[in-house]
Amino acid sequence: MLPPSVEVRLRALPKGLRDHIARARTLAVELARLHGADDEAADLAAACHDLARALKPAVLLSEAHRLGLAVGPFERRTPILLHGPVAAAWLGADGDVDDPRVLGAVRWHTTGRVGMDIVEKVVFVADKAEPEKVAHDPSLQRVRKLGQEDLDKAILEYLDMQIAELLGKGLLIHPRALELRNDLVIRLGPRK
Ligand SMILES: [Fe+2]
Ligand SMILES: [Fe+2]
Repeated sequence: MLPPSVEVRLRALPKGLRDHIARARTLAVELARLHGADDEAADLAAACHDLARALKPAVLLSEAHRLGLAVGPFERRTPILLHGPVAAAWLGADGDVDDPRVLGAVRWHTTGRVGMDIVEKVVFVADKAEPEKVAHDPSLQRVRKLGQEDLDKAILEYLDMQIAELLGKGLLIHPRALELRNDLVIRLGPRK
């Protein structure tokens, strides 16, 4: 059972986004059970992770300002990065969700961060490797498979792929994602 304020926010989302969220929840619960994480926290975080994903860039920026969130040059240029922090701030303001693991998983699901809690890792991987995303981009299959074995390896695989793609397109790399990627390489060794 989701908190009432979350249900209300979910119902307002476009169907495609709701379907993605439902698939991410299923995978998050599966991964949480596999890795001994709290499956209820993972499910709630996955349910909430994209609550602000349908907002237009200008609205995300104004919401971020209204909620007192840090908006740097990177966020101004790529406001979509604010959808996790905005959703986490909404949850805090609604008052129905106060589990810091859930709020962290929602807040950081786009870039990840060094020192992620296991619920954060589960939601990060579930968001990126849910079945429809894998069907759309079969290279994500490896992230999905690694996710069953080792969440850190799955996250490193995803970040390496994503960073290479962004570099190939000449786009910005968020420093938090790069920092996480480097931390994982230091801890795990380079990806084979
Ligand atoms: Fe998202
Ligand atoms: Fe998502």
